[in-house]
Amino acid sequence: MKECQKLITERRSITFFDTTKEISDDLIKEVLEVAATAPSANNLQPWEVKVIKDKEKKKILKEICFNQQKVEDASAVIVLIANPKAAFEHIDRVLDSSVELGYMPKERRESAKERVLEVWKDMEQAKRKSIRDTALFAMNIMIVARVYDLETHPMDGFNEEKMKEFLGIDVEKIVPMIITIGYKDPSKDLLPRAYRFKFDEFGEII
Ligand SMILES: Cc1cc2nc3c(=O)[nH]c(=O)nc-3n(C[C@H](O)[C@H](O)[C@H](O)COP(=O)(O)O)c2cc1C
Repeated sequence: MKECQKLITERRSITFFDTTKEISDDLIKEVLEVAATAPSANNLQPWEVKVIKDKEKKKILKEICFNQQKVEDASAVIVLIANPKAAFEHIDRVLDSSVELGYMPKERRESAKERVLEVWKDMEQAKRKSIRDTALFAMNIMIVARVYDLETHPMDGFNEEKMKEFLGIDVEKIVPMIITIGYKDPSKDLLPRAYRFKFDEFGEII
C-alpha cells in the first residue's frame, strides 16, 4: 500500500492516549504549518488555532467537553477556530503575495479585493466559507499528525459558548471542532473501524 494511502486509511479516532507522553511546542508548530498548506478559497486561510497543553487548563476543557476523558489524557488539544471576518483581515496580505508571486498584475489587485469582500460581506456566506476551509485544514492536521507517529481525535462534543468564554475567543468566530493529539496508549486496543459506505451508497458517475 502506498504510504499516503496507509496514513489516511489507518487513521482512527484515538480514545486512549498515553498520558505520560508530551509533545514539544516545535513539533506541534511543525504539524500545524504542514497542515496549513491546505487549500482555501481565494487562499484566505480563514482559520486560527489555540493549542492547549497545560494540564490544569485541559482539566477545565474536559468539563467543557462533557467530561470526555481523552481531552485530559491527550498531550494537547487543538481548538480549531473559523473566522468569518478573515477576508477583511487577510485579503491585503494574500493579494500582496499574489502580485509578488506573479499570480496577478498589480492593476487587478483592487478589483480582485472588491470582488472577494463583496461575497464575505454576507455573514452567512462568510460563516459557511470559513467553516468549510477550516474543516479542510482540520483533516490535514489529522493526516499530517500520523506522519510524525502522532494520533488524533476530532470532537464536536463541547459547549461552544463556554469554550469561547474560557479561551477568550471572539463570539463571532466559530469553533467547528477540536482535535486532541498525542500518542496512543499501547496497552489499549480500539474496536475495528466503524462501517464506511461504499461508493454505490454515496455516489454516482454520470
Ligand atoms: C467533527 C467531528 C466531531 C466528532 N465529535 C466526537 C465527539 O465529541 N466525541 C467522540 O467520541 N467522537 C467524536 N467524533 C469521532 C467520530 O465518532 C469518528 O470519527 C467516527 O465514529 C469514525 O471513527 P474513526 O475516526 O475511528 O474512523 C467526531 C468526529 C468528527 C469528524
